[in-house]
Amino acid sequence: PKLIVVTRSGEEREVMGEVGLSVMEVIRDNGFDELLALCGGCCSCATCHVHVDPEFVDKLPPIGPDENDLLDSSLERDAQSRLSCQLQFTQALDGMRVRIAAED
Ligand code: FES
Repeated sequence: PKLIVVTRSGEEREVMGEVGLSVMEVIRDNGFDELLALCGGCCSCATCHVHVDPEFVDKLPPIGPDENDLLDSSLERDAQSRLSCQLQFTQALDGMRVRIAAED
């Protein structure tokens, strides 16, 4: 499936990702180094914060308590905020657009 990634400067690029990876891994593996993902995906750093296009928000798993707490610590949080390491990339997400959140 494909994922559309929008960088902080607004540049948009379409990449292919493998089902089973996390959205964070798909972004990172495609060379977007502004998504720091410092904790490597164990839901403790919040540097993998992205804003998901509204039409895909309902297709995502619910926000877990740890993810919610971490997102709450971000000034950039909005209704489309997710931690990309907590989103498994699936066929249902084909064509999803995610914007890398600004740094807090
Ligand atoms: Fe650290 Fe997602 S990579 S919370």
